[in-house]
This record gives sequence, structure tokens and C-alpha cells, in this order.
Amino acid sequence: MSITDFQPAVWTTSSNNALKVSLVSDNAIQFSPTFTYPIYGESEQIFGFQDLLIHLAFDSVTFRPFVNVKYGAKLDEEADDVEGKLLSFLPKDDVVIKDESEWIDGFQKEQEGYKLPSSKFEIGRYKHDGDQFVIFKMSIAEDFTKKLHRRVQIFSLLFIEAASYIDEEDPNWEIFWLFNERTKQCAGYVSTYKLWRYLGSDDFDSSADLKYRARISQFIIFPPYQGKGHGSHLYSAIFSHWLADDSVTEITVEDPNESFDDLRDRNDLEKLYELKVFSQVPRAGEITSHWIEETRVQLKIEKRQFNRLIEMILAYSNA
Ligand code: ACO
Repeated sequence: MSITDFQPAVWTTSSNNALKVSLVSDNAIQFSPTFTYPIYGESEQIFGFQDLLIHLAFDSVTFRPFVNVKYGAKLDEEADDVEGKLLSFLPKDDVVIKDESEWIDGFQKEQEGYKLPSSKFEIGRYKHDGDQFVIFKMSIAEDFTKKLHRRVQIFSLLFIEAASYIDEEDPNWEIFWLFNERTKQCAGYVSTYKLWRYLGSDDFDSSADLKYRARISQFIIFPPYQGKGHGSHLYSAIFSHWLADDSVTEITVEDPNESFDDLRDRNDLEKLYELKVFSQVPRAGEITSHWIEETRVQLKIEKRQFNRLIEMILAYSNA
């Protein structure tokens, strides 16, 4: 041993670099997480290992997780509990640790009886590269959703800043799933919440129908499927579904990041174009707040987003 072996830096690893996430089908696609602070702490550093690699793999159909921690050297007394911390975010008794053949045998067996949700949950479909992709909406209370969501929810922590686990006992959570219908692979999911909206005593007394504000909370397209238009298809399908749902009065998004804002703007503008709102925006004189509010409520778009869209439409028509 040399003196440098005792320096803390030698035993410190970035958790974002050490954690390797894989989606496994005929081949494995590996990628790094954007965030690991919910698991390994604010500094995203792990102490006590050299050449640390934390493999977190998922079968691309069932998403059964597999964890395997490897390292060159470990400080036995002081090393962080790398495996234990990760396992606390994965479904209990539903993770295979280290034994790769047990994991492969297990998910292959599970795949044999694996069925996508029934068509009664389908809310949209589209074609991409010769395959049909299907979108289902299911309550978190459904067994299929509960099981799959417990397996995939760690992706929200790893890829969305400030994400946290949802309360699966609260039936107001609904998950939108995106699947390749042929391969049964899941390409992404969206967790959404319906907040009951009190519209005043007159409305409440005169109608038995409850009204909700629908909120997109966590929106994920798994890395191998990103940049191919799946996010846009999924968002548009959810938007159209809620637009047609009389119980939903407004569509909102919780803490959108820059790339989600971009996706949302592009798709909202397309929708407004399709609904001929572009040609209805008053060009001469002032746009009245009455026109803005009436149109916005009809389209169920929240205030800030609708104002941004109108500005974009005006900039486009003045260009
Ligand atoms: N071929 C090539 N490029 C395409 C195609 C295509 N067929 N279709 C779309 N694109 C381009 C788009 O033009 C866009 O380009 P841009 O980034 O230069 O504007 C880009 O691909 C992304 O558009 P989509 O493919 O429709 O979106 P994607 O499927 O990648 O989903 C998302 C976007 C959701 C942000 C995804 O990248 C993701 O899950 N990221 C990690 C998690 C995340 O950040 N989620 C949002 C957090 S905010 C929240 O949850 C409320």
C-alpha cells in the first residue's frame, strides 16, 4: 500500500457514474441515471470502494429488477451500504440480487404468461417503425399497474429532478402506460393525479358530477425510446383523452422541466392549430381577457401555459 491509498478521494465514487441502468431484451441497452441523490444523498458520492459498479438491470417486458454490485476493493468498516440503499427503493421480495441465471429464468417464465391490459383501458394507439404502440390508462389500484409501477417507479427518481414515490393507496393516482403491442415492451409511463375541484356551492348543489383538475406528475419515456416521437404521441393522447372527459376541467403539469416544456409547447401548438384556434386569435387591437379566458377554459389549458401559447402564435403570425 502506498500513502495515496489512504486518501479519501481514492475511495470516493460518483454515484451517477457508478450506477449503470440496463434494459434487457435480446441485447442489453445500458445508460446512466441523471440523478442519484434520492438514493445516495445530496452530494451523489459513495464512499468506501474502488472501481465500483452498481448494475441495476430490468427485463424490458416485465421490468423485474436485478441488482449486482461489483468493486475492486472495499473499506469493510466504513463503506456505504450501496446495495441496501438501492434495495430500499425497489419492490421488496421482487428483486433478484447477484444470481443472474435466477433472474433470467424468472423473467422468462413470467414473460410466458405476460398479458397487456384489456382493451377497456386503451385510450390511444399509433404506428411507429412498423409497430403498433398502445396507450392504456389504469388506476393505481389495478393489480397490473400496482405490480409494474412498483418495479418502474425508480426511473422517476433517476430521471426527474425532485421526483418522489407516489402514495399507491390513494386511488386518485392514475397511470398512463405506453406499450409496443407486438413485443409487449413498456416504452414509458406517466403518473397523473386528479384533484377534486370545488366550483362553488351552486354547482355543487345542482350536480352530482364531480369536477377535477387533472395533473401530469411524472412523465417518462425510457432512454432507449427517447427522441423518436413517443413522448409527443403519449402527451397528445393524454391531452385528447382529458379534453373529451367532461369531469376534467383543467389540464396541469407539476414542475415541468425544460425538455418537457418544449414537448408540451410543440404538442399544444399542434392541437391549437388542428382546432383552428390559430385563425381565431384576434390580430387587430387588444386581445380581451374575456376572449382569452373563454378560449382557455374551453381548451382546458392552464393560464400561464395558454398565455405562452398565444404569445407564440402571435410571434409566428408576425414573423
Ligand atoms: N425522429 C427523430 N427525432 C424526433 C422524432 C423522430 N421520429 N420525433 C421527435 N423527435 C425529436 C423532437 O423534435 C424533439 O427534438 P428536440 O429535443 O430537439 O425538440 C425530441 O425528439 C424529443 O421529442 P419526443 O421524441 O417526442 O420526446 P421523447 O419521447 O424523447 O420524450 C421526454 C421527451 C419525456 C422529456 C423524455 O426525454 C424523458 O422521459 N426524459 C427523462 C425524464 C424527463 O425529463 N421527464 C420530464 C420531466 S417533467 C414532468 O415529469 C412533468
